[in-house]
Amino acid sequence: MKILKFDELDSTNNYMKEYISAFNNYDIISAKNQTSGRGRRGNTWLSSEGMALFSFLLKPNKKMNIKDYTKIPLIAGIATLSALKKIEKNDYKFKWTNDIYLNNKKLSGILVEKVENNFIVGIGINVNNEISKELKEIAISLNGKYDIDKVILAVVEEFSKYYEKFISGNWLELLKEINDHNFLKNKEIMIKIGEASYSGKALNIAEDGRLEIEIDNQIKYFSAGEIKIEKGFNR
Ligand code: BTN
Repeated sequence: MKILKFDELDSTNNYMKEYISAFNNYDIISAKNQTSGRGRRGNTWLSSEGMALFSFLLKPNKKMNIKDYTKIPLIAGIATLSALKKIEKNDYKFKWTNDIYLNNKKLSGILVEKVENNFIVGIGINVNNEISKELKEIAISLNGKYDIDKVILAVVEEFSKYYEKFISGNWLELLKEINDHNFLKNKEIMIKIGEASYSGKALNIAEDGRLEIEIDNQIKYFSAGEIKIEKGFNR
């Protein structure tokens, strides 16, 4: 595992994508600042000093089936949550498909991109950064101050442990842990997929990684979509 540290990049995911052939499994790129940080669905990820901003490479094990690719974001999410628990004890929640929430606010976002047959797992965590006034209602940082490099290493190490468990056939154990931290469970949500949107009650994350939503007394399964929480919160 090697770690390349930069003061500034456009995006750690972009850098890893550009030089992908130079990297091995679990190699890490980190940056103190990103000028064009990217989130999911083409969103911008605003970066500020004190965040953990990094990407690492995952070269999937040969035992991994293509249908398991959708589980990688979930594994990255629960591994990040578990690493954070070891750094600062808090009641973190996992928001399907791969965000970490604390006190109903976003603490971390994850962007997994498939490049050739590899995955770039890009993670942003609000660690030491101050949350701006405009974002205070929806975002949160950790309470204490931490060494960013140690946080990054802890997350990648935890991911490698969870990924090994997954490859060894322990998906159901991981899934239980994911569901035990399921932020959306029993919340009234709206899910938007392209132009279509559906409202219902979020339930568990199913064995294949899809989210179960009860819509008009029927359970429907969703593999992707933008979630809005309808009752209690506006995000
Ligand atoms: C999201 O919440 O939509 C995902 C955000 C992912 C942000 C991280 S920061 C490090 C890496 N580089 C990027 O450009 N994006 C990811």
